[in-house]
Amino acid sequence: MLSESIARLDHIVRPIAMHLPPPLATQMYSSGRNVFLSALTAEKPTSVHIPDHHARTLWGLTFRNGLLNAAGMFKQGEGYETVWRQGAGGYLAGTSTAHKRTGNIRNGIVKPFAPYPRSRAASNWLGLPNDGNEAVAKRLAAFEKKADFPIGASLMTAPESSGQEALRELVQGMEWYDKANVDFLEINESCPNVAHGASTLEAITERLAYIGQHFLQKRSRNLPVVVKFSTDTASADVAPLLDILLASDYDGVNFGNTSTNYTKHRAMLHADDQELFDYFTQTFGGGVSGEPLRASSLELVRAASIYIASQKLTREFHIIRTGGVATVQDVEESFSAGASLCQWYTGYFERFAEDGHRLYGRMFG
Ligand SMILES: Cc1cc2nc3c(=O)[nH]c(=O)nc-3n(C[C@H](O)[C@H](O)[C@H](O)COP(=O)(O)O)c2cc1C
Repeated sequence: MLSESIARLDHIVRPIAMHLPPPLATQMYSSGRNVFLSALTAEKPTSVHIPDHHARTLWGLTFRNGLLNAAGMFKQGEGYETVWRQGAGGYLAGTSTAHKRTGNIRNGIVKPFAPYPRSRAASNWLGLPNDGNEAVAKRLAAFEKKADFPIGASLMTAPESSGQEALRELVQGMEWYDKANVDFLEINESCPNVAHGASTLEAITERLAYIGQHFLQKRSRNLPVVVKFSTDTASADVAPLLDILLASDYDGVNFGNTSTNYTKHRAMLHADDQELFDYFTQTFGGGVSGEPLRASSLELVRAASIYIASQKLTREFHIIRTGGVATVQDVEESFSAGASLCQWYTGYFERFAEDGHRLYGRMFG
């Protein structure tokens, strides 16, 4: 299929492309990414059967297996049928916001993205392009729902709004997705590529408590809501953040989003990837994804799991791991550390280059 041919060609060309001047390599990969995603989501590969013993039930929802795409891969609600056919455990749309956004442009580069192929990592500074909560929710509402394949939606406060207005809009977005009959929601509290509200524990408490009061405590059906934090979260903040979530009736946490700890990650990159990394982080900033996050996402899951086990909970609360997941061993390690589900983004594309549409089948078939 076309997406597989593009991925295979890219695999061959990448080591050469990476020697292009960094602005040209970034330009090429930023536009190439869109071409590839359009091809991928238009395809209907042969359906893969996932044996039942891989299924995981959380909040009364059965996921065929414990691995699904992370937020940002299908921002507009595309690709549902494609990943169901591939054998994914579930599907996550978004992140969407109250208002349509076209994404970031700098130095003529639209939605900047750069892979670091020798390091199994990437950087992006996309800036949350999306059609808006209402449009994406309506798209999801039209899906022909598949069994044991829950649909989630990721959303966050609109970067161009502030204070109570931003929160009111966010709750309205959650209501759109509720009406669209999605199965779970993920609040993105950690996008490094747009202006956020303040990130002090006090400000986070205020925002999350507002959502608790105006949405979570008013739910009339089973609609679990998790909050996604950064993989840069300090271990000391894990317990206070979980306290906030538990106090406001959230159903889970996701560790986590991309990192802006450039100094730490640069040291972990292959020497040949460092020039592009320096150009990207100095020109755009952006979030680092992939292998460099593997240790921190696992450590945060472990810390969260220990804290949750020490609490006397009267309802289900689940931990999701995102960041550096690329193999079935990573998934198993995540479960052993206390995660109930995993999401992947950078690793998905690494595996796709090798296995094409058979990637979930090879892992869980
Ligand atoms: C190109 C790109 C776009 C992303 N967009 C979003 C997004 O819209 N919302 C979000 O919560 N995370 C977004 N992320 C972060 C991923 O969901 C994930 O948390 C992060 O990449 C770490 O996982 P990975 O190491 O498997 O890539 C994006 C990541 C990438 C690479």
